[in-house]
Amino acid sequence: MPLHKYQFPMRDFLYLAPLQSFTDHHFRNAFQQVLGDVDRFYAPYLKMSNDGTIKSGPKIDILPANNPFETVVPQVMACNTADFLLMADYITDLGYTEINWNLGCPYPMVAKRDLGSGILDKPEKIIQIIETVLPNMNLKLGIKMRMGYESTEDILTLLPQLNAYPLTEIIVHARYGKQLYTGSCDHDRFEEIIPLCKHRLVYNGDIETVQDFQTLKKRFPTITDWMIGRGAIANPFLFEMIQENSPEFPMDWQTVFGEFLALLLDSHLQASSNDGNTLLKMKHYWEYFATGIEDGSFHYKRFKKIKTIAAYQNFISEFSEIEAE
Ligand SMILES: Cc1cc2nc3c(=O)[nH]c(=O)nc-3n(C[C@H](O)[C@H](O)[C@H](O)COP(=O)(O)O)c2cc1C
Repeated sequence: MPLHKYQFPMRDFLYLAPLQSFTDHHFRNAFQQVLGDVDRFYAPYLKMSNDGTIKSGPKIDILPANNPFETVVPQVMACNTADFLLMADYITDLGYTEINWNLGCPYPMVAKRDLGSGILDKPEKIIQIIETVLPNMNLKLGIKMRMGYESTEDILTLLPQLNAYPLTEIIVHARYGKQLYTGSCDHDRFEEIIPLCKHRLVYNGDIETVQDFQTLKKRFPTITDWMIGRGAIANPFLFEMIQENSPEFPMDWQTVFGEFLALLLDSHLQASSNDGNTLLKMKHYWEYFATGIEDGSFHYKRFKKIKTIAAYQNFISEFSEIEAE
């Protein structure tokens, strides 16, 4: 029986996508202290090193001590059950209750080893891994995937098969792997898969503005769960603006942005004594902010002249002062 419209949740659920080197605990913690409207945070993926241990960066990132605010969902990238279960054990020991499986990473070095999106054209292998890991771990399982490797057609075979398993959700970045980040998302295909999926289906891909969100919401009225990555790094207020249904930045955005930048910087300074590296990290964020915040390219031009942490701290404090004037 179709659901009556009032049975749909009144608001949308918004998730911050995992972006390696960007949405680490420094970013997530700064975000959670001064910004809001995110329902779930996902940590960038854990993966194995060649020596059979879990790579240390992402391992440290999900330590409970590094995540004092809201819970994050840890993610793994694996194409065999042994690696998957080893990482699942580590995640369980840290107290987490859910794991997300990365079937989306597009990079050829990864994909050619059947990792990330490289496994999407081998549904039998995916199903075999799910059947082995589910009874052997104490974690709920969710999947984050692209729609295929060579084309978006792979998902048409895989998705109905996933209905047989108790998954928490399927997050779909509406591109195929070989596309990398080029071209556009395949919205026709996304529309086609909605009736094929009995799990909670989360849309992901190219939501950069409130207008983008509204357009997609109109096109996919039954979808209530949305994941946003690059758009939210470029504009950390995007979640709030979507929930407020307003294309305008919040009145106090400069103050909040200044606080956010200060928290992000402090967190990095505590973790590293290499000021050059810290400024480089900030530059990577600023390449995004340049495109998303008000007068972003103007601020980014000023940022590019900064050579010291002290100068950057002054630059940050000016954001609060803009508003006080
Ligand atoms: C620099 C970068 C790092 C990423 N790292 C991850 C990752 O660790 N795990 C993952 O599932 N997806 C990762 N992604 C993909 C994003 O989570 C997301 O699916 C993709 O960017 C599309 O969403 P967006 O258009 O909202 O950014 C990464 C993307 C970028 C650009």
